[in-house]
Amino acid sequence: MENNDKNFTGSIPEFYDTYLVPLIFEEFADDLATRIMVESPNSILEIAAGSGVVPRALGAKIAADVKYTITDLNQPMLDYAKQKQPKNPNISWQQADVMALPFEDNAFDAVVCQFGFMFFPDKIAAMKEVKRVLKPNGELIFNVWDCIENNVFADLVTQAASQIHPENPPLFLERTPHGFYDNDAMRKTLQDAGFKSIIIQDKVAMSTAPSALHAAKAYCHGTPLRNELEALGEGSLDQVTQAAADWIAKFYGKAEVAAQIQGFVITAS
Ligand SMILES: C[S@@+](CC[C@H](N)C(=O)[O-])C[C@H]1O[C@@H](n2cnc3c(N)ncnc32)[C@H](O)[C@@H]1O
Repeated sequence: MENNDKNFTGSIPEFYDTYLVPLIFEEFADDLATRIMVESPNSILEIAAGSGVVPRALGAKIAADVKYTITDLNQPMLDYAKQKQPKNPNISWQQADVMALPFEDNAFDAVVCQFGFMFFPDKIAAMKEVKRVLKPNGELIFNVWDCIENNVFADLVTQAASQIHPENPPLFLERTPHGFYDNDAMRKTLQDAGFKSIIIQDKVAMSTAPSALHAAKAYCHGTPLRNELEALGEGSLDQVTQAAADWIAKFYGKAEVAAQIQGFVITAS
């Protein structure tokens, strides 16, 4: 993973939440929130909460005596999430790097993480840190994306960007969000960190956007791909965004577009 891949700052949080969240994250967030509630935890820690799509789904479901702590590495993402969250006295917000969580041992019944693990620089160390703050029978529940070939718009955007910059292809999407999907490797990582009762399920959904340009903007402006494109020179961000929109439109048309997304949902205790 390159250093900038973890930087969700500047105008990324707003584009992320406005364009990308409705495109690919909402259905998976509802799914995670429903799964967590089955276990009726009294204390929940969310890591890598981003612009707050899971907090909006889960915050509405938790009972009045449940403690829900929401964290992310990037304060701008957390600020964005906080201002969109309906007031709820059960919720607390805290900037936190998963690699060194600022919480005591055995503090939470459940830890939830939506599409965050791919970003963590050392997966076993991150999972060990999660295990440390979980109570002995606590549950970790998270999801990750499948490979980029099974996530159509991300794949088409990466193809378009690579056609424009063949010498230096901007591979953020392939490298990081779609870089941690091998089920055997994931299971082994969890086992090495001390987790048992590991269940991995696949989940397929459709992503829809009002136009091909909207889908292209979601990925190019609302993710750290933006950092990579801006580093390739002035005008590169807009040039790749338009090329990605044209490439999506070639297969799905210019107006409302819909294509498959696929990920895995993992529980471990
Ligand atoms: C793809 S976003 C997912 C955000 C949110 N969970 C969602 O579903 O929209 C990945 C998130 O991981 C966060 N992140 C990256 N590295 C992190 C770390 N070391 N510790 C905690 N969060 C991290 C980023 O700030 C970003 O918000």
